[in-house]
Amino acid sequence: MSLHFLVKTAFKDLNEDHFKILEILVENLEKFEVIPIEFITEHSNFDKSSVEKLLRKLNLYKLVWAPKGKTRGYVLNYNGLDFLALKKLVDKNILEGLGKPIGVGKEADVYEGFTPSGEECAIKFFRIGRTSFRSYGKRRSTLTSIHSYLHASIEAARFEFQALKILYPRGVAVPEPIAREKHIVVTKIFRGIEIPSAQYINNPEKVLKEIILNIWKAYEANVVHSDLSVYNILITPTEDILIIDWPQWVERSHPMAFTYLKRDLKNLLRYFSKKWKIRELSEECREIIEKILKEILNIDEYHNFLKGVFQ
Ligand SMILES: Nc1ncnc2c1ncn2[C@@H]1O[C@H](COP(=O)(O)OP(=O)(O)OP(=O)(O)O)[C@@H](O)[C@H]1O
Ligand SMILES: [Mg+2]
Repeated sequence: MSLHFLVKTAFKDLNEDHFKILEILVENLEKFEVIPIEFITEHSNFDKSSVEKLLRKLNLYKLVWAPKGKTRGYVLNYNGLDFLALKKLVDKNILEGLGKPIGVGKEADVYEGFTPSGEECAIKFFRIGRTSFRSYGKRRSTLTSIHSYLHASIEAARFEFQALKILYPRGVAVPEPIAREKHIVVTKIFRGIEIPSAQYINNPEKVLKEIILNIWKAYEANVVHSDLSVYNILITPTEDILIIDWPQWVERSHPMAFTYLKRDLKNLLRYFSKKWKIRELSEECREIIEKILKEILNIDEYHNFLKGVFQ
């Protein structure tokens, strides 16, 4: 069932009581694999039969799931989480509409969205564990981690939003953060494509310099991306860039920070050297990279690093 279809049908049919039940399920994700009906009833202001009725309707729209087993209870799924988070964003006047999908990654779906003032935005729905979900079927034994995946998606959104809030005001080229709700991050939209999809780059040296400069600015703000492939860098026709996808960032003091930083730089330099035939770094790029790596590498290690990249 597509998100659009659900929004069109279920959104109108569900009322505040249904959302109250979804809220209880979200708040207790970590406590249960299957949330017992008694527990849901205790935490709501409704009697048991009303709760059962509300849950049946949520189940009808596949926002929750009632696995067979000893405990009579329910499991929340991504549809239910999407619904609750979207409803909250609408209630808070952050969102008014959902547009077309603009990016499907491994761990997230990104949609176009519209704010009440008619501005476009990007809505990122985290979907951690999605690939293992497809096989969850109806068997109780395979259900172990659904709730922990939902919880992990909420955490990922929280981390990503935190990074954007640190980096955007410091002038790092990241999406402007607008809001975070559960596993959803809303940002300003950027009309660009992933770097590997660019057929032609007029000035690859300049683009590379821009990226390295932004890695440095982020580093100065105590943030290391840690998953910086060129797929996480968008570029516009005028060759402006934006670095996206920050849920796994770490602080400089993290024990793996330097390893990640080195890997981020290596991926980037390797790509530009192979694809865009950059054989040598400009003076400015070298200075920035030296500034970053000098803190962790001695001079020999640094030269070896460059040799490894531009071999
Ligand atoms: N602010 C934005 N503006 C425009 N497009 C965006 C924006 N954020 C993300 N996208 C699009 O959505 C795609 C997926 O985004 P992102 O890399 O953040 O998610 P992901 O699913 O975590 O990716 P990955 O596959 O690397 O895990 C991007 O490649 C890009 O095309
Ligand atoms: Mg990505």
